[in-house]
Amino acid sequence: MGYEDIYARSMEDPEGFWAEAASEIDWYKTWDKVLDDSTPPFYRWFAGGELNTCYNALDRHADGGRGDQPALIYDSPVTDSKRTYTYSELRDATARFAGVLKAQGVEKGDRVIVYMPMVAEAAIAMLACARIGAIHSVVFGGFASKELATRIDDAKPKVIVSASCGIEVTRVIKYKPLLDEAIELSSHKPDHCVILQRPQAQAEMQAPRDVDWAEAAAKAAPAECVPVAATDPLYILYTSGTTGIPKGVVRDNGGHAVAMKWTMKNVYDVDPGDVYWAASDVGWVVGHSYIVYAPLLHGCTTILYEGKPVGTPDAGAFWRVISEHKVKVMFTAPTAFRAIKREDPEGKLIGDYDLSNYKALFLAGERCDPDTLEWAQDKLKVPVIDHWWQTETSWAIAANCMGIEELPIKAGSPTRAVPGYDVQVLDENGDEVSPGDIGRIMIKLPLPPGCLPTLWRNDDRFVESYLSATQGYYLTGDAGYKDDDGYLWIMSRIDDIINVAGHRLSTGGMEEVLASHPAVAECAVIGAADQLKGELPVGLVVLKAGVEKSHEEILGELVALVRQKIGPVAAFKKVTVVDRLPKTRSGKILRGTMKKIADGAEYRMPATIDDPAILDEITEALIRIGYAKH
Ligand code: COA
Ligand code: AMP
Repeated sequence: MGYEDIYARSMEDPEGFWAEAASEIDWYKTWDKVLDDSTPPFYRWFAGGELNTCYNALDRHADGGRGDQPALIYDSPVTDSKRTYTYSELRDATARFAGVLKAQGVEKGDRVIVYMPMVAEAAIAMLACARIGAIHSVVFGGFASKELATRIDDAKPKVIVSASCGIEVTRVIKYKPLLDEAIELSSHKPDHCVILQRPQAQAEMQAPRDVDWAEAAAKAAPAECVPVAATDPLYILYTSGTTGIPKGVVRDNGGHAVAMKWTMKNVYDVDPGDVYWAASDVGWVVGHSYIVYAPLLHGCTTILYEGKPVGTPDAGAFWRVISEHKVKVMFTAPTAFRAIKREDPEGKLIGDYDLSNYKALFLAGERCDPDTLEWAQDKLKVPVIDHWWQTETSWAIAANCMGIEELPIKAGSPTRAVPGYDVQVLDENGDEVSPGDIGRIMIKLPLPPGCLPTLWRNDDRFVESYLSATQGYYLTGDAGYKDDDGYLWIMSRIDDIINVAGHRLSTGGMEEVLASHPAVAECAVIGAADQLKGELPVGLVVLKAGVEKSHEEILGELVALVRQKIGPVAAFKKVTVVDRLPKTRSGKILRGTMKKIADGAEYRMPATIDDPAILDEITEALIRIGYAKH
């Protein structure tokens, strides 16, 4: 069957379609209902079913003939080390660490925050939680203490798992002081922290709260997998919303396992035993889905890479990993390829490696510009597949499903809706727009398995954020259009989320930080186009009257404040002072117009602008910091 038939079947008989996919997962108890739709707008997949995600990811392969196959290859150019875990070894290490968590009092349903660099132990900690039915919440290492504290207060973890340090190319970033500060800042306090001591930095431990990973593991009894309900949460992953308070996206066990397994063959066209590599970070959804869960559920070998596309040591790093580990499919963000292209425009380093096993490159996380896509295609000579998804869904909403049927590639489009997703482009009244017309991209409910059933302990925010724009539809937050062939074109966000080097950030959150500075009267943060990172945040601030410090000093403090409160990952370095901000007559700041000015794009004078002369002042201010040039 081709794409059209499979997609049609997923729409006409979703329960039959997903029940068949669910037969690829081992269940302790079969579900009572494939889709529980008794309480719309809330939907639950495989209600009544019981399984264990870790069992499906590790034990069934370890005991089912793949025990000696590599499950996870840790490849770390920044520490000059590598280690391969077979399925048996990864299962045993995970069972032992699950025993460590149990010894710290973690039980089914308890939360565990994982604040780790890209080491194998991060994946082991996640899988160990899944093993005992605890709910993990991984926090990306590039976030600062305050962001970590916000997540601690929302998830209320019994235990936090962390490491002494991460390594950013050559810089050793101590994690433990950041963790200690976050716990200082948070109202909720974890009972224990389990710390992995890395040789590059020794963490100072606070007894009896802090526990050494290696010592605890040496004493721990391995823990067995416990059955959990398909609808029980596997993890919470916080993602940027429109305010500084992140959204706790909940992932269930059953629907997630089924969807993850299904995508490996159907979207990526990989088979059990193949080597699959997602060059991302376990702190992002791509890392959850495609470094840890999906490849292991499918019996593949996954690669956990602690390095960068460039600088570790050069722009040939990706080709080295692909060739050394015989990677069949690789997945990363377009920004990584822009970084490589900038350093090695001719792709000369590719020639140094044997890429004969390599079959396809998948890109996601941000809009993929056609130049980057075509460069990658031309240099690598493999299909380059742009696919579109988000933290909320955990797998692709639109893609060229290589395991079903390779459709013609149109550079700039992530191709068509993946089976399971009824994607429609609607106007503000909830009516479908004509092909070619831009509107809000929405998904008709119910969402397929694996997508968020709600936000952590916040059904109201879930409904308000995603389900209230048009009844019966999920609001993706992206705007775009469908063309005559049904291809989707994702153009921009409709909210104030920006994508910086494939990292999702809230400009609203940054504005909150700027506004907290005593000299700032008013501010706006916009996402300006950037050749490498896709977008970069740019701040415009109006200062309070009578401020005595120099502008230079204040601007330096603002940059430091965002780094301190949100983290280096915000890449907030450009900010300037203006006398006033452009607003509508009703007082709304015209961020969209400022973004167009910053990007040097055409813009129409907003009809509702209070004072058009302001835009000239804004243009001048943006030129001063290197933007708004035609
Ligand atoms: N811990 C601590 N600091 C971190 C961090 C971590 N885990 N990850 C990033 N940072 C820091 C970086 O060191 C950098 O600090 P700096 O301002 O002092 O230079 C800052 O956060 C911004 O990081 P990043 O956006 O990664 O920029 P970069 O300049 O270091 O690297 C790229 C640019 C393109 C090479 C890099 O973004 C990249 O590899 N992207 C790949 C895409 C990706 O992983 N996407 C995830 C979703 S698929
Ligand atoms: P995240 O939740 O961090 O994965 O970010 C999701 C958002 O990134 C989406 O809502 C889009 O705005 C953007 N995005 C992800 N993939 C793509 C893509 N292939 N094309 C365009 N935008 C994308």
